[in-house]
Amino acid sequence: MATHSYSLLPSSSSSSIHGQNHQRLNFSSYIAKGVLPAKVSFHSRRNYHLNVVLMQDGAVATPATPVENEAPFKKLRDGILSSVPSTQEFKEAASFDVSKDESTVSITVVGASGDLAKKKIFPALFALYYEGCLPKHFTIFGYARSKMTDAELRNMVSKTLACRIDKRENCGEKIDQFLKRCFYHSGQYDSQENFAELDKKLKEHEGGRVSNRLFYLSIPPNIFIDAVKCTSSSASSGIGWTRVIVEKPFGRDSDSSAALTKALKQYLEEDQIFRIDHYLGKELVENLSVLRFSNLIFEPLWSRQYIRNVQLIFSEDFGTEGRGGYFDNYGILRDIMQNHLLQILALFAMETPVSLDAEDIRNEKVKVLRSMRPLQLEDVVVGQYKSHTKGGVTYPAYIDDNTVPKGSLTPTFAAAALFIDNARWDGVPFLMKAGKALHKKRAEIRVQFRHVPGNLYNQNFETDLDQATNELIIRVQPDEAIDLKINNKVPGLGMRLDHSNLNLHYAARYSKEIPDAYERLLLDAIEGERRLFIRSDELDAAWALFTPVLKELEEKNIIPEYYPYGSRGPVGAHYLAARYNVRWGDLGI
Ligand code: BG6
Repeated sequence: MATHSYSLLPSSSSSSIHGQNHQRLNFSSYIAKGVLPAKVSFHSRRNYHLNVVLMQDGAVATPATPVENEAPFKKLRDGILSSVPSTQEFKEAASFDVSKDESTVSITVVGASGDLAKKKIFPALFALYYEGCLPKHFTIFGYARSKMTDAELRNMVSKTLACRIDKRENCGEKIDQFLKRCFYHSGQYDSQENFAELDKKLKEHEGGRVSNRLFYLSIPPNIFIDAVKCTSSSASSGIGWTRVIVEKPFGRDSDSSAALTKALKQYLEEDQIFRIDHYLGKELVENLSVLRFSNLIFEPLWSRQYIRNVQLIFSEDFGTEGRGGYFDNYGILRDIMQNHLLQILALFAMETPVSLDAEDIRNEKVKVLRSMRPLQLEDVVVGQYKSHTKGGVTYPAYIDDNTVPKGSLTPTFAAAALFIDNARWDGVPFLMKAGKALHKKRAEIRVQFRHVPGNLYNQNFETDLDQATNELIIRVQPDEAIDLKINNKVPGLGMRLDHSNLNLHYAARYSKEIPDAYERLLLDAIEGERRLFIRSDELDAAWALFTPVLKELEEKNIIPEYYPYGSRGPVGAHYLAARYNVRWGDLGI
């Protein structure tokens, strides 16, 4: 991981500056208040530049090179170049920059006894610690209603920690050191008093340093707003930044999502809200833009001219098993499609962003989403798994789950055809398929290219031209890989062609273990990098595409097509694809 250091240095030469807009800016008061330090250095894992000089009396010289790729620094730059920023903005920029010895990060996992916290958040925090990615001074707090001591929390957390397989150095020692930094506070999610107690404990650990605070809300949606209110009014940082990570569901439709956003914004600024979609933190999703924008062999092909269809496929080989209570209220379209698959689609299909800056990327994603046609009922197939007996084992139906209401019609499977009405993608079907209790666990993106016009070798494929189509397969999980299917001559004296794979198999190519999505996202939130988090306008655009069809499905009580547990899903998905001349790539040709 590359480390870059940059400095803001005091200069003796001048007492004022002219920014790009020829404004005279003076920041001495910020320095005097200790909000903006006179000498600053920082480290980043990303590549960006900052050439700003602080004058002796606190004025700031015009940056020679614009800042890139880092939200707090972009803010600082924008502040310098265009207007005098608010104290809050400078606080954020300054506290991020202050040398690591001076500041501390407190991470509070709200809902610490829940499944997500145990399985994902604490292990991800430990992995970051193990990799040396957490700042020197940090504290982790678990917060939940259950009564627990620090020792009990540590015991609970320790059961889920593991060291990187490819490293395993001082594993036990590292786990002990990490656990010593973990504490617990028991409280209600709607109690200002309990959050104020947490604040007091956080302060003790922060030891008077500039305190940056990250709250991870891993709690059910009905207590979300109460917890945000208490966090913001009783436990936010006085002199550092305060950021809140929120997990889906972000509402059930456009209206409820808008109401949630409005309520959140009563207590937080948009740039304090980190809406997580953990699929954006997956290695191969992160690689999507690299693959496309840094390879000449891909980018020119990325349009309706060469691409016939795009398939986004998610399947799990297990049912809701115990999570039916939550799931039944949402269904697979809300649980997987409207967020995980749609986010991948937006990244896949967006225009080239101006830069890798979070706002530039998110602007392009919103444009794609807003260019899409709302999903139509005739372009959706829904299914629900039923019981199935195989090899003497009986697998339960969705409605056998005790947490699911009897007779529920909630879809556990859906296939959908979506379209982007812009110049690049006009007429190209983007097919999505997502389901639980299917035959395999997998998430992949399949890009099927057009047929080669006037192909000299058509006769070798007889009438089935689909066999000759090039296909790019990005396997997000498991067993990450990128495959490119090409037509190739079978070695020998004859002229026989086959369909072979150019294969980048991650496990074979890279020895390093792939970090969990939560590690990347937590680190980004700590560093103030918003690129992989969802902005409220993206969320609105995403809901606008799915809300009408979700309403129709519910109002018309559409009966799902039943498919056996462990099967490949309902046949309706094939008819839907066939309507657009598509064959699902995951079923083999
Ligand atoms: C969650 C869904 O967002 O993603 C779950 O709510 C699903 O239903 C999970 O199981 C899948 O995540 P992953 O990372 O295991 O593929």
